[in-house]
Amino acid sequence: PARYLSSPSTGKMGFAIADEARKRGARVTVISGPTEVRPPAGVGVVRVTTAREMHAAVLEHIGDATLFIGSAAVADLRPATVAAGKAKKEDAELTLALARNPDIIADVAAHRPRGCFVAGFAAETDDIEAAGREKLARKGLDCIVVNRIGGEIGGFASDDNEVVILWGDGGREAVARAPKSTIARRVLDRIDALRRAR
Ligand code: PMT
Repeated sequence: PARYLSSPSTGKMGFAIADEARKRGARVTVISGPTEVRPPAGVGVVRVTTAREMHAAVLEHIGDATLFIGSAAVADLRPATVAAGKAKKEDAELTLALARNPDIIADVAAHRPRGCFVAGFAAETDDIEAAGREKLARKGLDCIVVNRIGGEIGGFASDDNEVVILWGDGGREAVARAPKSTIARRVLDRIDALRRAR
């Protein structure tokens, strides 16, 4: 009831993509974690709090989706136990036991609806393209949008972002710093091109 583990993600990047997809005529469902930022108008919104709730909601709503984009900063780990009441500091353990969360996008990619294109994001601090390529392959994605976190530009909570889009066979497109709405357009342009080339 008093403490939790989370990230500084606001949903701005995901909402920008949802808005752009809707403007292009898509029927969009956003599965969103907690945020103060308002989702765009005209899209379906499903609210969740935990990674496991997001996993269940994604599987429930994936239906016959033709495109899945995972921009949420899903926690890989969660506290192994959740306290029913506020822990007294004198009684608290100094080591927090953790458990693994499901990898949502890897599950979607492995059990995707027929023909569904799966695009991920990667939030990285070091050697960001190599890390992105490793995730692209390991999670079985069609493309991945890599952004640097912890720097001056982009990443969590900012209005701008700067990304590199990676896809199979060495495909690469760098998108210079721009508002997240522009990044969303470039990401969807690239996804459209990749889907047409299939
Ligand atoms: O929300 P904003 O404030 O606008 O910030 C945007 C952003 C920085 C959160 C966004 O641009 C971004 O980078 N999102 C991905 C963050 C992330 O969790 O990256 P990752 O490298 O840990 O995960 C790789 C991919 O696996 C992502 O598509 C992620 O959604 C997915 N994942 C991760 C863990 C998990 N348990 N399940 C997943 O599906």
